Amino acid sequence: MSIDTISPVKWEGDKLLVLNQLKLPTVVEYNPKKTVEEVFYAIKNMELRGAPLIGISAAYGVVLGVKNLSADADDQFVEVVDESAAYLAQSRPTAVNLFWALERMKRKAREIAHLPFAEKVHLMEEEAIAIHREDEQNNRKIGENFHEAGFVYDGARILTHCNAGVLATSKYGTATSPMYLAHEKGWKIKVYADETRPYMQGARLTTFELHQAGIDVTLICDDMAGMVMSQGKVDMIITGADRIAANGDTANKIGTMSLAVMAHHFGIPFYIAAPLSTIDLKTPSGKEIPIEERSPKEVVEWFGIRTAPEGIGVFNPAFDVTPHELITAIVTEKGVVQAPFEENIRKLFNN
Ligand code: MRU
Repeated sequence: MSIDTISPVKWEGDKLLVLNQLKLPTVVEYNPKKTVEEVFYAIKNMELRGAPLIGISAAYGVVLGVKNLSADADDQFVEVVDESAAYLAQSRPTAVNLFWALERMKRKAREIAHLPFAEKVHLMEEEAIAIHREDEQNNRKIGENFHEAGFVYDGARILTHCNAGVLATSKYGTATSPMYLAHEKGWKIKVYADETRPYMQGARLTTFELHQAGIDVTLICDDMAGMVMSQGKVDMIITGADRIAANGDTANKIGTMSLAVMAHHFGIPFYIAAPLSTIDLKTPSGKEIPIEERSPKEVVEWFGIRTAPEGIGVFNPAFDVTPHELITAIVTEKGVVQAPFEENIRKLFNN
């Protein structure tokens, strides 16, 4: 598998094929999802994950909801779309791409409500496919914008966290897009991938896809990042985002904020790569971003083996918020945003 062949989801007209990320990197297995409920559980149980991919898959989930409706229930079309969207919205709370995609599907349903049933179903399917394809184009553009700004160059040594790669999107990834584009140009870059406890997206997914693509990738435990930076081995940090507030505060995988604090200490640029669908203008600052807390099991067990005593307290927030003051730039498909973030983010949407 490589960037050209990895597809974390494949739409087959009557089902969504989902690459089971719980089994990577050892087993490559696609599971069919034929109902809204099956898509909901694939998102909730993290068979698929990553902000843009969650949004794309939820859009296909809404399509499955209307495809499984009979034509004589045409008068319930908009209601079924709304119900499916409300249900899918309960799957995970932090990544705003989920709510963005569901809102877009709901808007589409209203726009086409007057059309014959079969045509409506077809247009909803086209909308989900458009969300999927646009994500691919946007990610490529994000990578190009990194290169155009001169942030990533031949010889760059980049540290990344979690998986903001192909496996979290449609193609290219967000944080990995400048890496894949550098590789396309024949540049020699070096990537340090944090393991990303407790879910190990860095170890299981980021190293998997970068290695498959032939990019020089070195795995480190999360607590080694400061040491690697102190040794002058890192030129920049690039991560993705799950939700960017209107003032630029950015929620991403737990551990991202500590990296930003360390990067500030060592004078290393800290970049966020994300599409506009990850920016939530309705959330004024990081304080209002809902942070998912996941099962304590993820912290006290190592793939089924207990690694801490019974009866202890466990705190397992899946994301943290990096204050905008620690971010050098946010790179989107529409361009680069730098301080003052609030003003420049607004401009991005108005242009
Ligand atoms: O819990 P996950 O694996 O869904 O979290 C994923 C991340 O935090 C990614 O860094 C983020 O979604 C950006 S993906 C392009």
